[in-house]
Amino acid sequence: MAQTIVYEVGYLSGIYEGIFRFQSLAYILAAVLFILALAGLSQQKTARRGNIMGVIGMAVALVATIIVAVFQTEVAAVTTVGLLVAAIAVGAAIGVWRALKVKMTGMPELVAMLHSFVGAAAVLVGYNSFLVEPGALGAESAFHMGEVGLAVFIGAVTLTGSVVAYLKLSARISGRPLMLPGRNAINAVMVIACLVLIGCLVMSRGVDEGIVPLAILTVISLILGAHLVLAIGGGDMPVVVSMLNSYSGWAAAMAGFTLGNDLLIITGALVGSSGAYLSYIMCQGMNRSFVSVILGGFGGDAPKAASGSGDAAEVGEYTEVTPEDVAEALKGSKRVIITPGYGMAVAQAQFPVAELTRRLQSAGVEVAFAVHPVAGRMPGHMNVLLAEAKVPYESVLDMDDVNDDFGDVDTVLVIGANDTVNPSAETEPDSPIAGMPVLRVWDAGRVIVFKRSMGNAGYAGVQNPLFFNENTDMLLGDAKDSVDAIVAAL
Ligand code: TAP
Repeated sequence: MAQTIVYEVGYLSGIYEGIFRFQSLAYILAAVLFILALAGLSQQKTARRGNIMGVIGMAVALVATIIVAVFQTEVAAVTTVGLLVAAIAVGAAIGVWRALKVKMTGMPELVAMLHSFVGAAAVLVGYNSFLVEPGALGAESAFHMGEVGLAVFIGAVTLTGSVVAYLKLSARISGRPLMLPGRNAINAVMVIACLVLIGCLVMSRGVDEGIVPLAILTVISLILGAHLVLAIGGGDMPVVVSMLNSYSGWAAAMAGFTLGNDLLIITGALVGSSGAYLSYIMCQGMNRSFVSVILGGFGGDAPKAASGSGDAAEVGEYTEVTPEDVAEALKGSKRVIITPGYGMAVAQAQFPVAELTRRLQSAGVEVAFAVHPVAGRMPGHMNVLLAEAKVPYESVLDMDDVNDDFGDVDTVLVIGANDTVNPSAETEPDSPIAGMPVLRVWDAGRVIVFKRSMGNAGYAGVQNPLFFNENTDMLLGDAKDSVDAIVAAL
């Protein structure tokens, strides 16, 4: 009898050890795949491979987690499998439905919605962890309660912040910044209150003592997240979404600490740091201060920017051309650069633009694209559109690689770009976009600007003196119709 028990205990512990080894191996493999995914996504050529790595990494992590959960479960394995399948089916159905429905320009709002789920998950994991293992005597428990507090704090801020970002981006609530008097002081008080409450949680013993500070912490964090993002102009949401991406990563990492799950910690840290870095790059491209974005004061002093497209008083004479004139100019050019912007995305003009490029290239004209880091409304917006229209990657150049070459270019086509080609960023220190790096298209022999009317400004709501230069012509109308007409004229 005793021998059988010893044998069975040994047998079972062997299985458990095997399962944990399998889990560790699978998690290491998934972590490596996630790192390779990020490395791949850093370049257009390798982005597809990076995406595949990420998908495989996530599949490995999911399968390993499910297998371990089924082995560890205290209820019948069938019940656990049933619950997991049901949860995955609901999540996958919502994910597939939203991803199929979303338009390219609506991507930031989809991402904002997904971040809110990560925030909610971190809060729920925090509560679960607290109820299973409430505060007790000893440093280990204090540490655990600190993790729970931080997971709930960051998760709740991410949850409501992302929901507000989603509502603003989808125009379900006004995009105007909510400017409460003393808003920074209110935020500071809320953050201090949250830190004090996390302290109370750390010192609490048992559920009864801990639940009150935890509940108050949750409510204040939820209000803080909503208030931080409500104070930011709707047009400035893409940077905020990238910041919330970072917050959601840290929330996931905190959830990883409370669950003792190394993969969640690694993945959360990867998302958190890459999101923070992306926000930093976006701020640099727009000449904004990273700190002011983090503090949530963003966009408040630039109400026009929030409206997306302000009025622009005309500042001189401009010349208008027809698609036929543009076709002639292109035929006579040796070197052409196209600078796409938000208007190309709105008009969905990337396909005729790609066709125009092919026609010109086959006629021996050298054509390249100059892409500004914040052209459009989300990171890589133009690159994605051009890739969708099958423009070869070699023809798509970054701003820094092309900005000194415009002097050698015969014709520049500015297709739906405005702020990113605005010379006042360099010449007018008082301009809202002063200091923002811009594409120096005005150095070219001839510039042709595609936009619908002279009445609308770009995202920053400022007039663009480029339109009134001697070597600039305006081709007014929807960018897709204009490019179609040029292709027909060619
Ligand atoms: P914008 O400055 O936004 O200008 C868009 C231009 O497209 C306008 O001239 C507009 O004029 C024209 N347009 C709109 N619809 C059009 C259509 N159907 N056909 C033809 N033209 C059309 O564009 P940009 O140069 O790409 O600059 C991006 C701006 O967004 C920057 O200020 C940047 O800081 C900001 N931003 C970017 C990001 C990222 S990450 N990319 C995130 C947040 C903010 P009409 O209305 O007259 O047609």
